[in-house]
Amino acid sequence: MVSRVAVVVLLVAGAAADVPLHNREEMDVKLDECFRRLFTPQLSSTFTPDEIGLYFAHFKRHAIDALPPSTIGAGKHNFLTDESLQAICEAAFSEARPASYEAMARQINTQHDTTWVAENPPRFRQMSVKDARRLMGTFVGDQYIHLQEKKPTVPVDRDALPESFDARERWPECKDVIGHVRDQAECGSCWAFASTEAFNDRMCIKTNGSFQTLLSPQDTTSCCDESHCFSFGCDGGQPALAWQWFTEVGVVSGGDYGDIGTGDTCWPYQLPMCSHHVKGPYPACNGEQSTPKCMAKCSETNYTEQFNQDRHKAYEAFTLFDVDEAKREIMENGPITGAFSVYSDFLTYKSGVYQHVKGRMLGGHAIKILGWGVEDGVEYWLVLNSWNDTWGDKGYFKIKMGDCGINDMLSTGHVSANTPTPQHQQQQPRMRTSGHRQPADTHHDVTLINA
Ligand SMILES: *[C@@H]1O[C@H](CO)[C@@H](O)[C@H](O)[C@H]1NC(C)=O
Ligand SMILES: *[C@@H]1O[C@H](CO)[C@@H](O)[C@H](O)[C@H]1NC(C)=O
Ligand SMILES: *[C@@H]1O[C@H](CO)[C@@H](O)[C@H](O)[C@H]1NC(C)=O
Repeated sequence: MVSRVAVVVLLVAGAAADVPLHNREEMDVKLDECFRRLFTPQLSSTFTPDEIGLYFAHFKRHAIDALPPSTIGAGKHNFLTDESLQAICEAAFSEARPASYEAMARQINTQHDTTWVAENPPRFRQMSVKDARRLMGTFVGDQYIHLQEKKPTVPVDRDALPESFDARERWPECKDVIGHVRDQAECGSCWAFASTEAFNDRMCIKTNGSFQTLLSPQDTTSCCDESHCFSFGCDGGQPALAWQWFTEVGVVSGGDYGDIGTGDTCWPYQLPMCSHHVKGPYPACNGEQSTPKCMAKCSETNYTEQFNQDRHKAYEAFTLFDVDEAKREIMENGPITGAFSVYSDFLTYKSGVYQHVKGRMLGGHAIKILGWGVEDGVEYWLVLNSWNDTWGDKGYFKIKMGDCGINDMLSTGHVSANTPTPQHQQQQPRMRTSGHRQPADTHHDVTLINA
């Protein structure tokens, strides 16, 4: 039985930065008790001792984050009942489960007769389910906002579509841009990467390879915000509306985090990969990374172009509602932006054609689709992720066509050859929204979208 006094101590210790050591210890005892109670014998055969250590560290971190803010400074105390503590413990226990672990990869490889191979990837083995969930920053299903469809002038000739296609092979002059693997770090900005990258490829393709500059996912993440794009930076966004934003506002140049200080581009990505765990492979995280602020000037002081002159625009944006039309669009103009639902097994993808076999739903994820093919009779999309080239198949993956909703959220746009300053065409996009839970449906002052 947890006494009320002990719980108050726990609460105070968890929320204040400089608590006396005996309070911190009491809190540790309480959380230790909670963890032991919830950690069933069956789980100890699932996880290795190291993984159990990580599980417990994640559990403590998430439980402490979930404690109500202390009012000790104001001379008041929030009382936490045994029930509340138990609820906090249970929620933290569920969210603290390692995002990937040895046994998960092993089970997929041995117990499932499937079309892909799993591994326990360095990127996720240090993360909890909650940490990993943050990377899935795309609203999917009912919450995905579609643009208008672009009616094809000529119907797709199915027989003219090849069995397989790879944009890197079709446009070798742009293979470095198309195949450039980026890294969103611990930020839910996949929606900005997947849209900015496909736009980047299309500009290179349209200019016959003369435009090789990297465009800035940071600009999209930070500036294509709630009021313009119904998007929330590192907390998730709408890839199709980012395409719409490219037609209205555009995006400046910007390399990767590692390019900061080179002066090569206007606004490189600002967030590095980090570890929540001291023994992790990356520098320590400073709490949860927040979205860098929107700016109107380049972060690189030595970059020669002015911010407004450096903005590159598309001239139309649209959603693709048909797989064959999507294929033709990729063949004619380059990669497109897709989104799908991520289940925890996906994190362990190593090679082959992914299809969901086990694990819980983590959230929506946006990616760049650069081709398709057939492997062992299974038709797939060829996809580039934004989780660094150390994840998956050198940063790429293949996913069974239609799996996890991937055929239902395809968007792109057209660019003209004379970018960076193309003719801006006004158009009236139409949102197709089936849901009523749009993240920002209280906003009516959006000029960009006329629903
Ligand atoms: C990929 O990860 C490595 C190692 O953490 C890092 O040095 C590199 O900058 C990352 N790549 C990108 C594009 O950020
Ligand atoms: C690219 O090449 C095509 C075919 O050779 C040509 O018609 C087009 O004008 C070129 N575009 C640019 C921007 O150079
Ligand atoms: C910017 O350019 C100046 C002059 O060329 C040089 O001295 C300076 O080191 C550069 N700064 C950075 C951050 O590269």
